[in-house]
Amino acid sequence: MLQQDPHGTLPVHLAIIMDGNGRWAQARGLSRSEGHRAGAATVRTIVTRCRELGIRYLTLYAFSSENWNRPRAEVTALFSLLLEFLQQEVPLLAEKGISLKVLGDLDGLPLAQRTALRHAIRRTAGGTAMTLNLALNYGSRAELVQAVRSIVREGLPAEAIDEATLAGHLYTAGQPDPDLLIRTSGEQRLSNYLLYQCAYSELYFTPVPWPDFGQEELDAALAVYAGRSRRFGKTQEQIDGS
Ligand code: IPE
Ligand code: IPE
Ligand code: MG
Repeated sequence: MLQQDPHGTLPVHLAIIMDGNGRWAQARGLSRSEGHRAGAATVRTIVTRCRELGIRYLTLYAFSSENWNRPRAEVTALFSLLLEFLQQEVPLLAEKGISLKVLGDLDGLPLAQRTALRHAIRRTAGGTAMTLNLALNYGSRAELVQAVRSIVREGLPAEAIDEATLAGHLYTAGQPDPDLLIRTSGEQRLSNYLLYQCAYSELYFTPVPWPDFGQEELDAALAVYAGRSRRFGKTQEQIDGS
């Protein structure tokens, strides 16, 4: 079993695209909403495991800006699950020192969810053990556009703008980039997720649908990550010699 990282092989920041709730449900003759409910239970398991392992940042893709294109009933079900999740989990998150953040356009969310999220963010703000980012109403291209807009609004001269400036205007400002990006359920695409932040992330794709992605699946992904060689442009000989 994986322990608190003695060899520095755990990702500091783990990002996940939680995919496959719908197909998981359809395969069982259940509604898509029931698939999302099962997916919410997996969120609990994975947050707990990450906290236990000592992963410092966990970012979960919960609702993309493109997901508004889904049937209205499914969108409604997803947002009521979010409220339920917050009601149940926020006291536990606070207790475990997990601070909740939202990546995405909060103002575009329904009022009840916006209010509950603001409350949850405030309530957990002191947590220093782990940051849990929920990407909600999130799209990476829109994030980059709003970053550029705020840089322009601040009147920064072109020469003063560097990569750190841009990174500092993203929703993830102040956080390290994801070391590992996991996508469940077989799809091998980014779906407008953290395009800037994942420039050098290790990618891990598994056919397992999100509701079935348990502690063992997570540990297996982390073991694969631990065996990867991250070279950042250098040669393996340079890495081995340093
Ligand atoms: C991921 O599961 C959850 C959200 C996108 C909110 P899906 O609902 O995309 O499941 P599939 O891809 O249809 O199986
Ligand atoms: C990406 O999953 C968004 C979330 C997991 C919230 P989708 O299932 O919406 O992605 P596409 O549209 O199939 O690429
Ligand atoms: Mg999907």
